[in-house]
Amino acid sequence: MTAKRILVTGAAGQLGQAVRDVRSPEADFIFTDVVIPPELTPTTEVMDITDRKSIGNILDETQPDCILNLAAMTDVDGCELKPELANRINVESVKNLRELFSGLIVHISTDYVFDGLAGPYHEDDPVHPLSVYGQTKRDSELVLQNAGGPFCIIRTNVVFDYTRTRASFVKWVVDSLKAGQPIRVVDDQWNNPTWTVDLAEKLLVLIQRDAHGLYHYGGADYLNRYQFSHRIADKFHLDKALISRISTSELNQAAPRPLKGGLHTDTICRKFNFAPLPLNEALDAIKQRLGT
Ligand SMILES: NC(=O)c1ccc[n+]([C@@H]2O[C@H](COP(=O)([O-])OP(=O)(O)OC[C@H]3O[C@@H](n4cnc5c(N)ncnc54)[C@H](OP(=O)(O)O)[C@@H]3O)[C@@H](O)[C@H]2O)c1
Repeated sequence: MTAKRILVTGAAGQLGQAVRDVRSPEADFIFTDVVIPPELTPTTEVMDITDRKSIGNILDETQPDCILNLAAMTDVDGCELKPELANRINVESVKNLRELFSGLIVHISTDYVFDGLAGPYHEDDPVHPLSVYGQTKRDSELVLQNAGGPFCIIRTNVVFDYTRTRASFVKWVVDSLKAGQPIRVVDDQWNNPTWTVDLAEKLLVLIQRDAHGLYHYGGADYLNRYQFSHRIADKFHLDKALISRISTSELNQAAPRPLKGGLHTDTICRKFNFAPLPLNEALDAIKQRLGT
């Protein structure tokens, strides 16, 4: 298989960091983001996906075979409060990419396209987003599905890692409990959390295999967020008594959350011979990497 030249958007984000970690040295990557932290400056180009000129320049310069679109406005409550901005970043930008690039676009979507009444969900279950974020991600899928060019959409859910530089659920739980800080975690949001590194590996396989269509991918374990925090505490030998359970409604967040979310992964696993990663193995790998 010949290595492809892959242009990655949003490459300074959580999933982008994992793609950097798992990439094979012989493949050709162009990493881009709108704001680049100093440590990534030498390896990342500035590209704002809301700016057609910025996209056009990089495409002319680099001539990729494929775009891996990880860029998005992912702050769910922020999207609710700023729907126009959310639409510009999450939907209009995908139109920009599609109009300016005729090759394969691999795009990431979410189980927030569902209402969370009956998860986990299959690919052909009816969508019903509850939030602006969920609606923009659904609209982004439709942009690609209706435009006619080659695309692969991967819906995933609760993407996690312990990232040093960014807010993350695992980091929040580990750091709070290590500091003896009590935390409150919702026990009514159900998902199959997905380790960034596992997802990044699968995305690169899908690109190499020229995958097309819409698929669901997530981790092997279906559990609620409170149970997830316990699994993290157990793995890092931290005090579970510091974790108290609350319900989502007590958080009074701007955006409604789907409660029984999550994704069935049997279609993608059958087609590409994937196996979803058990949470225990992902947490082991994170712990080992942190050297704790
Ligand atoms: N995290 C999850 O649990 C989850 C679950 C399901 C699906 N997803 C999807 O997975 C994808 C990757 O998510 P992630 O967790 O890696 O999110 P992330 O950490 O927020 O990364 C997104 C990146 O996109 C960048 N970005 C924002 N606006 C941009 C623009 N105009 N041009 C170029 N880049 C821009 C962000 O920069 P700033 O930080 O500077 O804004 C950030 O670096 C997204 O499509 C998301 O919707 C995530």
